[in-house]
Amino acid sequence: MAQSTPAQAAPVITPNQLVVLLIVVALIVAVACLMMATTLLYLVRQKKAETAVAAEGATSEVARVSEGIFSWKKINQVLTRSVPVAQEADIDLGHDFDGIRELDNRLPPWWLWGFYFTIVFSVVYMYYFHIGSDWSQDKQWAEEVETANAQVAEFMKTKAEKVDETNVVMADATGIAAGKEIYTTNCVACHGANGEGGVGPNLTDEYWLHGGSLSDVFKLVKVGVPEKGMISWSSTLRPAEIQNVSSFILTLQGTNPANGKAPQGEKYTPEAAPAAPADTTAATDGKVALN
Ligand code: HEC
Repeated sequence: MAQSTPAQAAPVITPNQLVVLLIVVALIVAVACLMMATTLLYLVRQKKAETAVAAEGATSEVARVSEGIFSWKKINQVLTRSVPVAQEADIDLGHDFDGIRELDNRLPPWWLWGFYFTIVFSVVYMYYFHIGSDWSQDKQWAEEVETANAQVAEFMKTKAEKVDETNVVMADATGIAAGKEIYTTNCVACHGANGEGGVGPNLTDEYWLHGGSLSDVFKLVKVGVPEKGMISWSSTLRPAEIQNVSSFILTLQGTNPANGKAPQGEKYTPEAAPAAPADTTAATDGKVALN
C-alpha cells in the first residue's frame, strides 16, 4: 500500500538535497557569468579588430582575432545568437538616443534557458510542496516548535541538576510527591515512616540539629553527617531529587506523628515574611522559597 500515514515526517528538503540544489544553482550562476564575460571579451576584441581595420586597413587583424577565438565565437553564437556588428543595420529600429541605437536583438538563448528553467522549477516546486506532499508551513512550524520544546525540556533538566543549597526552592506538588517516594525508599529506616525519628532525629518538629530551612536541610542531606550515621546522599540522589526529598521533609512540619522522638537541637523559626532577597542569583523560577 502506497498510502502515507499522517504520522510520517513531512518531506522537507534534507540537508543533502539542499547541498545538491545549492551546487546546481552555483553551477548555473557560474556558467552564466562565464558566458557573459566571454561575450564581453569577444565583443571587445572584435571591436578592437574593427578599429584596427578602419585605421590601417589591416584585414589580417580581423582574421587573426576571429581565428583565435573561433571556438568561443561558435559557443558564443549558440548562447547569444548575437548579430555581427556588420549586420547590425538590419536590426536597427531607427531609435537613436544620443548615439545609442536601439537594436531588435533576439533574447539571448542562455537567458531564455534560465527563464525556461525557472518555469519548470516552479512547476516541480508547486507540485512537490503544494500537491504531491502533505508538507505545509504550519506543519513545519509545529515540528520546529516541538523540537525547540524538547530542547527547552532538555535544558531545564540540566538546570535541575544545578540545584544546590544556595538556590534551592520548594519543589512543586509533583516534586514533593516524588520526594515522598525517595523518602520511603531511603530514609524511613532511620527517620521513621512518618518522619517521627528513630536512629535519626524527628523531622516533624521545629527542633533541628543542623537548621530547619530548606537550604539547611538540602545541604545536610547532600553532605550528611557521616560520623553520626547520616550518610551523604549526593552520590545516590541527583540534586533535583535531594531538592524533592528536602521539600517533602519540610511538609512534615507540625504533623506530630505517634511515637515522635523527643526534640533534638535548636528550635528553628522561619524568618517571618522574608523580604525579597537582594541577591537575585538564587534561581527561584517564580516559586516561593520557604527558607
Ligand atoms: C542510616 C540511618 C539514616 C538514614 C538512612 C538517613 N538518615 Fe538522616 N539522619 C541520621 C542521623 C543519625 C542523623 C542525625 C545526625 C546528627 O546527629 O548530626 C540524621 C539527620 C538528618 C537530618 C538533619 C535533622 C536535624 O535535626 O538537623 C536530615 C534533614 C536528614 N537526616 C534527612 C535524611 C534524608 C532525606 C534521608 C534519606 C534520603 C536520610 N536522612 C536517611 C540517620 C539517617
